[in-house]
Amino acid sequence: MALENKLGIEDASDLAREEERISKKKAMELFENRLFDKMEAGKFSSLKTIHKYLFEEIYDFAGEIRKVNLSKGGFRFAPLMYLEAALENIDKMPQSTFDEIIEKYVEMNIAHPFREGNGRSTRIWLDLILKTEIGRVVDWSKVDKEDYLLAMERSPIKDIEIKHILKAALTDEVDSREVYMKGIDHSYYYEGYVTFKAEEL
Ligand SMILES: Nc1ncnc2c1ncn2[C@@H]1O[C@H](COP(=O)(O)OP(=O)(O)OP(=O)(O)O)[C@@H](O)[C@H]1O
Ligand SMILES: [Mg+2]
Repeated sequence: MALENKLGIEDASDLAREEERISKKKAMELFENRLFDKMEAGKFSSLKTIHKYLFEEIYDFAGEIRKVNLSKGGFRFAPLMYLEAALENIDKMPQSTFDEIIEKYVEMNIAHPFREGNGRSTRIWLDLILKTEIGRVVDWSKVDKEDYLLAMERSPIKDIEIKHILKAALTDEVDSREVYMKGIDHSYYYEGYVTFKAEEL
């Protein structure tokens, strides 16, 4: 069963394919139209804009805070009751060093504000902070997907692994379209990583 969507697709793998195609096209537009120049790095408002832009052709909930509790691989993301407060706190977190920025990214992942598409939109949001604050971005082609996912699963408890992985992949090619696009590669959804799919509680 697929998530309810504007395309009227009912099969989950058909939806995953279309979703990937459309969100990549939209991510490219976001880059080409220099829409990041208008966003405030590190604020939820910019993540909301990114998410809305990527997914508005696909989901009614694009850019909207989720209305259900979510868990993945046994981890429960921020309970709905505390989600808005969590987002306000994250907005205020410092972001002047690499470590602070990753700590902020980890907190935003724990918040997981949207029903779907948090990974892709939050990786773009992270790159915008890194670019603005330290003049570097993550070259996602240097990040092994399995290592990344394991480190993200671990990150609510200990963030040392994700810091290590992302630090090793930093590049000063901040305006490269190829480097940017790698961040929205999305291949877990329909390759059998069932445990990583979101479950509504
Ligand atoms: N068990 C977990 N604990 C903490 N964070 C997790 C866990 N599983 C996945 N994540 C994080 O959630 C993200 C996936 O969230 P979501 O499915 O909403 O986004 P997506 O854009 O569809 O996925 P992807 O990141 O695979 O492209 C992953 O990128 C990872 O950062
Ligand atoms: Mg997903």
